[in-house]
Amino acid sequence: MNVPLYEKIWMWASGVLIAAFVATIVVGLAGSALQPPSHVEMIDPTKVWNDPRFQQRGVTTTPEGATVVMIAMMFAFQPAEIRVPAGKPVTFRLTSSDVTHGLSIVGTNGNTMVVPGYISQFTTVFRTPGEYLIVCNEYCGLSHHLMSAKLIVEGARP
Ligand code: CUA
Repeated sequence: MNVPLYEKIWMWASGVLIAAFVATIVVGLAGSALQPPSHVEMIDPTKVWNDPRFQQRGVTTTPEGATVVMIAMMFAFQPAEIRVPAGKPVTFRLTSSDVTHGLSIVGTNGNTMVVPGYISQFTTVFRTPGEYLIVCNEYCGLSHHLMSAKLIVEGARP
């Protein structure tokens, strides 16, 4: 088959682009330990405040790590301040009582969408103690930009 040089160049260029797109996914997964949420657990969004899974909000700490239970709503996280141990796995469990929100822990790989009707769950380890800003990163209404919370990672750097 006779392929003109000009066409060959474009074929190789599109091949390189595809390889680059795949590389961004591989680098994100392997290099930065990012992972798409795979947890599927449903909840009635109109009853989250009475659901036993969200009755006790806040942090539960064990010797192995911690679990954080939070509700996202227009335009706050409840609770608005949480303290977790450094260097141990912390599992976040969130749901929304109204619209879709996001939870992004600035400067870390803690990031999830919070969709009404579902429980979002992810586990991460915070290596560096300090204060972190939690923001909502899904537009949820007029005061979306005010929706924030504080994460305090306590203890010595492991
Ligand atoms: Cu909640 Cu934006």
